[in-house]
Amino acid sequence: MIKKSPTIVLLGGEGIGPEVVEATARVIGHLIPSVTFERPLHGEEVLTKFGSAIPPITQQTIRKADAILFGSTWKFCGDVLRFLRWGLDTFANLRPAKTRPGLYSPLKKNLPLDILIVRENVEGEYPSREGNLRDFDARWPDFKDIMGRHLPPEGLFSLRVTTEKGSHRISEIACKEALRRRKQGRPGKVTIVTKDNVLKKSDGMFRKIAQEVLQSGGVPYEHYYVDDACRRLISQPESFDVILTPNLFGDIMSDIALEIVGGLGVGPSACIGEHYAYFESVHGSAPDIAGKGIANPLATILSGVMMLEHLGFVEEAQKLDDSVNRLLQEQRVLTPDLGGHSTTTEVIEALIKLMRVP
Ligand code: IPM
Ligand code: MG
Repeated sequence: MIKKSPTIVLLGGEGIGPEVVEATARVIGHLIPSVTFERPLHGEEVLTKFGSAIPPITQQTIRKADAILFGSTWKFCGDVLRFLRWGLDTFANLRPAKTRPGLYSPLKKNLPLDILIVRENVEGEYPSREGNLRDFDARWPDFKDIMGRHLPPEGLFSLRVTTEKGSHRISEIACKEALRRRKQGRPGKVTIVTKDNVLKKSDGMFRKIAQEVLQSGGVPYEHYYVDDACRRLISQPESFDVILTPNLFGDIMSDIALEIVGGLGVGPSACIGEHYAYFESVHGSAPDIAGKGIANPLATILSGVMMLEHLGFVEEAQKLDDSVNRLLQEQRVLTPDLGGHSTTTEVIEALIKLMRVP
């Protein structure tokens, strides 16, 4: 059911995060005045006092909210991101890469593209599980690689985890998204991306489960190994619709896909779990321009569009999305990263004006 007056928690994080989150809140507050924003303490400001960048009281506020908008992490907010992903079990990271008017692809062909990356968000190499090979060997002296060799005596390892449950639930999300896109007139096809020629057991299981889920959902699918998939993403980006992939491949492929549509700086994402959802831009914290008032707020605003859709404000989300397109195409009120000279405030003021004019 749609809540008419949802509560949204704003977590700016660090770098340009707080600026772009506040800019987005201004736009959303204008669009839906009944929204309540909460700004719980987090990050560097509470680290010394509470010994945590995301103290229990902040976690409580977050758990009570209807949605969370997050800025970015740089030095102090790693724990905030980890709480949002693993504390809230937001296992599905949806990253759309769409061409938009006024954004230019570095590829020669300037095709209209609309790709959705469904990235498994809580398994694989994340959150890091690393250690010393010496300690590993001491605990598991019989461990051998596929060639029957023992581990080298010196060095480090990192552990990559794949579970049946994790593979299944992310495949179901890809299936649902593909069916949703089919209804909107898009192909509704899923490309499963793994590296199971090497990671035979773990990625082999991910691929098998994905195939089973998509087959039973009546969704057409294909499969590529990740190296091949990246090559195809550049040579034939128009052949992709939904990409379903484990965590680290999704991290890399979403940057590639966004770069191809000319929109790494305006790429949004939604991290969805069974009980919680948070929204953040794909780009980083850009500390070099933090506090200068020139950060591009569009990726966070478009993450706000995904958040409004998630909260059931479909018309408002569409209106905001259309206004961003008009801003990019007609008004060209752009921050320096997009070749303009405008400030963050000028961008959102232009956007708010556009939303007033039908
Ligand atoms: C992303 C980022 C993060 C990730 C970093 C900041 C840990 O690159 O959301 O894509 O690797 O997931
Ligand atoms: Mg990334």
